Amino acid sequence: MFITFEGGEGSGKTTQIALLREWLERRGFRSLTTREPGGTPLGAKLRELLLDVRSQVEPSAELLLYAADRAQHVAALIRPALQAGTVVLSDRYADSTLAYQGYGRGLDLAALQHITAFATGGLQPDLTFFLDIDPAQGLARRAQEGALNRLDALSLAFHQRVREGYLALIAAQPQRWVRIDADQPLAVVQGTIAAVVEERLVLGRA
Ligand code: TYD
Repeated sequence: MFITFEGGEGSGKTTQIALLREWLERRGFRSLTTREPGGTPLGAKLRELLLDVRSQVEPSAELLLYAADRAQHVAALIRPALQAGTVVLSDRYADSTLAYQGYGRGLDLAALQHITAFATGGLQPDLTFFLDIDPAQGLARRAQEGALNRLDALSLAFHQRVREGYLALIAAQPQRWVRIDADQPLAVVQGTIAAVVEERLVLGRA
């Protein structure tokens, strides 16, 4: 099973992925935690270029660098793990490209769909959690934690378009997505995630 986590900055995805991983292990499921950008050695180099606030990157080049990261990630890590029966948990995946480069930057959505399909060979997540947080609140959290990356530092209006983009993606494919209000205690968010995974994975209704 391939599970992805999406959300704006400061939505707590990373913490929730770690908690889900522990939960899966307690139930005897082998899992792999990974992220985009940066899930492979090549991806780690691309991540540095993509997130460095000093990088000058045109939107089209930004898109293709995320796509290159994803192509390597799918072929070298995600597909082999899924084939070995491992549950793969990814902190961001293709929906981030549609939300950030599509709705945020304004690149053509149909072109993004083609490029993404090429990069992934058509691999789609079985389940995607959207940890929904008000962008102003998320950015404030992120700023408190320390350095803002190149995308965090974009305007509040950009991050609001990203959130609207996610809501549009959810409306288009409601069976794949679960939207969770991320402005709740950690344990409540974790409980919701575990209940959904239990239903889809443990009870075999994926
Ligand atoms: P990261 O520090 O991992 O942020 P977060 O903790 O919010 O996930 O940085 C990843 C950044 O890259 C984030 O701002 C979203 C952006 N991004 C895109 O713009 N397009 C993409 O396809 C992906 C995967 C990420």
